[in-house]
Amino acid sequence: MAEKTDVASIAVLGSINMDLVTTTDRRPVPGETVLGTGFAMVPGGKGSNQAIAARRAGGAVQFLGAVGDDVFADELRRVLTDSGVGVERLRTVDGPSGVAAIVVDGGGENSIIVVGGANARMTELTDADLAAIAGADILLCQLEIPLDTVAAAARHARANGTTVVLNPSPTQDLPAELWANIDVAVVNSGEAEQLGSALDPVAHLVVTRGADGATYRGPDGKELSQPSPRVDVIDTTGAGDTFTGALAAAWHRGPEYALNWAGTAGALATTKLGASSSIPTADEIRTALPAN
Ligand code: RIB
Repeated sequence: MAEKTDVASIAVLGSINMDLVTTTDRRPVPGETVLGTGFAMVPGGKGSNQAIAARRAGGAVQFLGAVGDDVFADELRRVLTDSGVGVERLRTVDGPSGVAAIVVDGGGENSIIVVGGANARMTELTDADLAAIAGADILLCQLEIPLDTVAAAARHARANGTTVVLNPSPTQDLPAELWANIDVAVVNSGEAEQLGSALDPVAHLVVTRGADGATYRGPDGKELSQPSPRVDVIDTTGAGDTFTGALAAAWHRGPEYALNWAGTAGALATTKLGASSSIPTADEIRTALPAN
C-alpha cells in the first residue's frame, strides 16, 4: 500500500455523463408542456462530479470510468483533466457516453433521468484499476455503474486496507457482502429513509439534510450535527456529489472537520447552475468555512 500523506489519495470509480440542463419556472405535470427559460450542456455524472469535487477540495484523485466515442466524450474527459483529476483509468468504449436529462425549476430543485451509455460498460476492473484502488487511501463509489463492479472494487479495497466510501445513489437493494465492505456511507435524508436498517452495518453514516446541514453517526455511537451555511440557492444539482467528494478529501482530518468542510462545499455548489460548473475550490471553501 502507498505511504499515507496529509493529502488523501482517492480512487473514484463511477459514472460520467453529459448533463442536458433545462431551466423552467415550474416543472410540467404529466401531459403538460411548459416554456423553459434556458438550456445548457454541462459535464456531470455522480462519479465525475465527486472526483472533481474531491480534487478541488484538496485530494489527489484518479477517476475510473468510461466515456463513449461520441461528440460528448472529449468534453467529458477535458473537464476532468482541467480540474487535475487523473484520467489514466478512463476508457473509451464504442457507442454513446452517458447522458442525463435534467430539469431545474425556479426554486432550484431538479429532476434527473440518467441514460447510462458507456457507464453500463464498466463491467470489468483491469489489473491497473485494481492497483489504483489498492494504492489509494480511499475508494469512492456511487451506483450509476454496474453493481457487480462496485462490489468487486469494494472487496478489493477492503482486502488492501483502502477505506471504502459509498454514496448509494441512485438507491437500490445492495447485497449484504457489499454493505459489509463499506466503511463510510453518504446518503441524503430521502435515501436514508428508503434504505432504513440496511445502513445499520455501516461504521460511519453521514446523512445530508439540504438546508438543515448534515448529521454523522460513528461506530462508537458518536453523533454529530453540522448546520449548513445560508446561501442563495440557484440549482441543487451536484450539491450532494460536491459534499461527498469534499468529505472524502477531508476524511483523514476526522468526521467533525470533514462534515464542516463538506457542508460548506455542498452549500457553495448550490449557488451556481450545473454540476461540474458549480464545484468550489479549496480556497473558496476555506473562505466560506464557518468556525468549527
Ligand atoms: O448528482 C447529480 C448528477 O446525477 C448529475 O450530474 C447527473 O449526471 C446524474 O448523474
